Amino acid sequence: MVTAAQAQAKYDRIADRYEEIFFYVGDIGARLAAFAGPRPGSRALDIGAGRGAVARALLARGCVVTAIDASPEMVGRLTADHPELTARTMDAARPDFPDGAFDLVTAGFVVQVLDDPAAVLAQARRMLAPGGTIALSLERQSVGRLGWLQELSAEFFAPDSPAEPEPESQPEPEPEPDAGPMDADGLDTLLTAGGFRDLAREDVEMPLPLEGPDALWEWLQPRGGTELVAALGERAGEFRARFLDGARTMAEDGVITLDFAATLHRARRPDRPPTGRHAYPAGRHGG
Ligand SMILES: C[S@@+](CC[C@H](N)C(=O)[O-])C[C@H]1O[C@@H](n2cnc3c(N)ncnc32)[C@H](O)[C@@H]1O
Repeated sequence: MVTAAQAQAKYDRIADRYEEIFFYVGDIGARLAAFAGPRPGSRALDIGAGRGAVARALLARGCVVTAIDASPEMVGRLTADHPELTARTMDAARPDFPDGAFDLVTAGFVVQVLDDPAAVLAQARRMLAPGGTIALSLERQSVGRLGWLQELSAEFFAPDSPAEPEPESQPEPEPEPDAGPMDADGLDTLLTAGGFRDLAREDVEMPLPLEGPDALWEWLQPRGGTELVAALGERAGEFRARFLDGARTMAEDGVITLDFAATLHRARRPDRPPTGRHAYPAGRHGG
């Protein structure tokens, strides 16, 4: 999970290759827009828009699209690629749009990277017109059969010793009791707690078959693999040999299938705010 400042640093670096590395976001963006089902002319806000996977699908559906992202590099490319939308660099936890300004708020693969998703959902609810829709996608974590690659990477890329020794007096931070990657049930719980209603959810599977271990190696190269392996210097050859050994354990009839999966979530801001003890938690500009 990242703060807006960390998101800027991280996503600025990969903005030019983002949709090449994460090859499935374009497809899921289109599915998320279809799942949201906006009418032509709807005022849509896409949060954490990246290179525009969701935003361009909303444009294709006739929406009037505003897109925000913490990364100025992403916003620069969005503006260049899609001059028909309004793109702004903005922290999703501190948006400056008025209450009820949008009919639809979307966020593709964003809630799981936010350090305070509840605050962002509260802002989304505030900016939605009564009866408006929120639509989100969430990557399902399924390391599963790629566990060998995590272990191999830890062996080759983990530093032998910390760059700076920990001060002895520094106490170990207590683990957060509910820390961990966001899952689909957790997101639905957040949506309900944030005052959204009429929740709907859809599973999406994105299997990617590759022709054996060499194809898996080649597939990873433009997705950051080249730089990582180059950083290994004289151990690069050893890493490649061990990688191909590990990949062989995944091959079935010569084919390796990478299992990418996501969930789509949709909910509605009720027409009228509830009263009494179930009232909405206040956003920055009230509920
Ligand atoms: C995983 S990418 C998803 C991009 C795009 N929605 C897609 O489906 O391809 C997450 C995006 O959220 C942005 N982001 C992260 N934290 C943010 C924040 N607090 N405010 C606005 N954008 C943020 C990142 O800069 C990045 O572009």
